[in-house]
Amino acid sequence: MPEFPISIRRATPEDANGLAALMADEAVYGNLLQLPHPSEAAWRDRLEAKPGNGDVQLLAIARDQVVASAGLHGNIHIRRRHAMHLGMAVAGPAQGKGVGSALMAALIDYADRWAAVVRIELTVFSDNDRAIALYRKFGFVQEGIFRAYGLRDGRYQDVLAMARLHPSPPCWD
Ligand SMILES: CC(C)(COP(=O)(O)OP(=O)(O)OC[C@H]1O[C@@H](n2cnc3c(N)ncnc32)[C@H](O)[C@@H]1OP(=O)(O)O)[C@@H](O)C(=O)NCCC(=O)NCCS
Repeated sequence: MPEFPISIRRATPEDANGLAALMADEAVYGNLLQLPHPSEAAWRDRLEAKPGNGDVQLLAIARDQVVASAGLHGNIHIRRRHAMHLGMAVAGPAQGKGVGSALMAALIDYADRWAAVVRIELTVFSDNDRAIALYRKFGFVQEGIFRAYGLRDGRYQDVLAMARLHPSPPCWD
């Protein structure tokens, strides 16, 4: 449970402003592959685009403000329909208070019980201890390392490839 009340819902184009504000903080965009000075218009375009099959973008809302975002995104390959890529971000002041865990629980429920996702995959900067701890807590394991994968604050940094396989894939009665 988060240390303060949040509600979780799907993002809509009207959340473009909230998402741009969330991504404007270096404590957030620095650990993602986002750029400084995020564009509200670009976020609106992205939120207005027809989502891929099963794609979902969830927000955590506290006092009418977007405090976190987490999404699962599929890919075009028919033979990889069972896999989705995960990304998530919690606003600086809300980090370390259970919000990321709450969003992760919601995404895993969606993936495991409804969206027929067998494999959730992600990349994470190799020194992002809090994110790695969160992913391990939810069953993700390290599968590899991509060297000098992303530019962060003037240096190319390694990322870990991590993934979680469904612990008990759906069967039938
Ligand atoms: C990474 C992130 C999503 C985690 O969400 P969060 O709300 O801060 O995380 P939570 O409060 O749910 O805590 C996650 C776990 O990490 C642990 N943790 C917190 N800080 C830690 C640290 N510095 N080192 C190791 N573990 C840490 C917590 O103890 C918690 O585990 P527990 O519930 O077993 O105690 C969030 O901090 C964030 O958005 N950071 C900036 C952007 C980012 O890094 N996104 C992920 C990119 S891959």
